[in-house]
Amino acid sequence: MSKLTVLCVFVILGAGIADNELTLWNAAAEGNLPNVNKALTTGANPEWPNPDYYGKTSLHQASHFNHPDVVFALLGAGSNKDIKDTSFETPIYDASVFGSLDAVNMLIGRGADVNIQSISGRTPVMEATLSGHFNITKVLLINGLANVNLSDKTGTTALHVAAFWNRFNEAKLLLRMGADTEKKDNEGKTPVDIAREKGYDHLANIMDNSIVTTISSKPSTNAPTAQPITTSPTVHPNKKMSTVQISNASNTQNKGSGLLIPGLVISIVIIVAVVTTAAVLYVKKRKNKVDEELPLEGQPPQQSGSGMGSRHDSENSLYGVVLNKTESQVPSRGSQHESENSLYGATVA
Ligand SMILES: *[C@@H]1O[C@H](CO)[C@@H](O)[C@H](O)[C@H]1NC(C)=O
Ligand SMILES: *[C@@H]1O[C@H](CO)[C@@H](O)[C@H](O)[C@H]1NC(C)=O
Ligand SMILES: *[C@@H]1O[C@H](CO)[C@@H](O)[C@H](O)[C@H]1NC(C)=O
Repeated sequence: MSKLTVLCVFVILGAGIADNELTLWNAAAEGNLPNVNKALTTGANPEWPNPDYYGKTSLHQASHFNHPDVVFALLGAGSNKDIKDTSFETPIYDASVFGSLDAVNMLIGRGADVNIQSISGRTPVMEATLSGHFNITKVLLINGLANVNLSDKTGTTALHVAAFWNRFNEAKLLLRMGADTEKKDNEGKTPVDIAREKGYDHLANIMDNSIVTTISSKPSTNAPTAQPITTSPTVHPNKKMSTVQISNASNTQNKGSGLLIPGLVISIVIIVAVVTTAAVLYVKKRKNKVDEELPLEGQPPQQSGSGMGSRHDSENSLYGVVLNKTESQVPSRGSQHESENSLYGATVA
């Protein structure tokens, strides 16, 4: 047998394997669970990075196109839940970009790390906020325990992104979760600066008010209260305000009948002192908390500038253009991959 024959056999074998991986990859993107299972049982590697598609794996594709059952199958077949493509984008990152809530839930349920940053420092929370997928931002922050303060290479945090795109609900939630309102980006701008620049005064006021609350330890008086609360916030499930324990302070008044009046006065003073201290501590602890009466769903985010454009449209812009999911339904096409130039934009192949 000649060396050439051996080489040929090798190449054919190699091509066959890659075929199987590609079959899996495509089936994962399409959400074709039977074909996914078939490819897996015939030995396809679930972690195969597609060299023609930024090293995205089957798990990236299943997440991107929101096929939680396929995500489950791939994880069961041994795929790393946090596997990275060539730009360090994880499956949950892709799911967040494209609004694939079920996949996000599945990945978080399986312990995916929501804080892995892409090469340019972007996080799933930034992407979900950018694209206005509020239900994903919520899940990432509350269930995924996402870090609200991470910033990308341009110093941009999720709150900057919310400010730039006038994402009211996202901004409110980020503030409730303790996002840093004074963090400056690389151009020295805080989220408030950006909101004011863009003319989103309502949003800027919300962020300003959260600073005022911090400084004065008083609820702000100029907060808008017009709209009703339509959704009860589910923030901080474990951080309920602790009730002040004053019952035994009150009981002391019954000791010594001759001292009833002074005892009452002292009790009241103690109660007031305890309540005040607790209130001050509480306000400090949650210094960025926004006033409860503000509506969570009151102001739908304005979609200005977002929509149909590809992220290529704005290579020079700090924040780029929101990618429309429908643009990239075809898995063989580049969609939101990072480039050197774009910051919030991504290139389209
Ligand atoms: C999540 O939000 C999107 C809009 O961003 C909406 O189309 C989708 O139906 C929502 N999903 C759920 C389960 O509420
Ligand atoms: C975010 O930044 C704020 C302000 O510096 C800080 O109070 C908060 O603890 C930070 N949160 C996290 C998760 O780092
Ligand atoms: C109050 O004090 C009594 C003992 O004097 C104790 O048994 C009780 O648990 C205390 N109650 C509270 C609410 O701390």
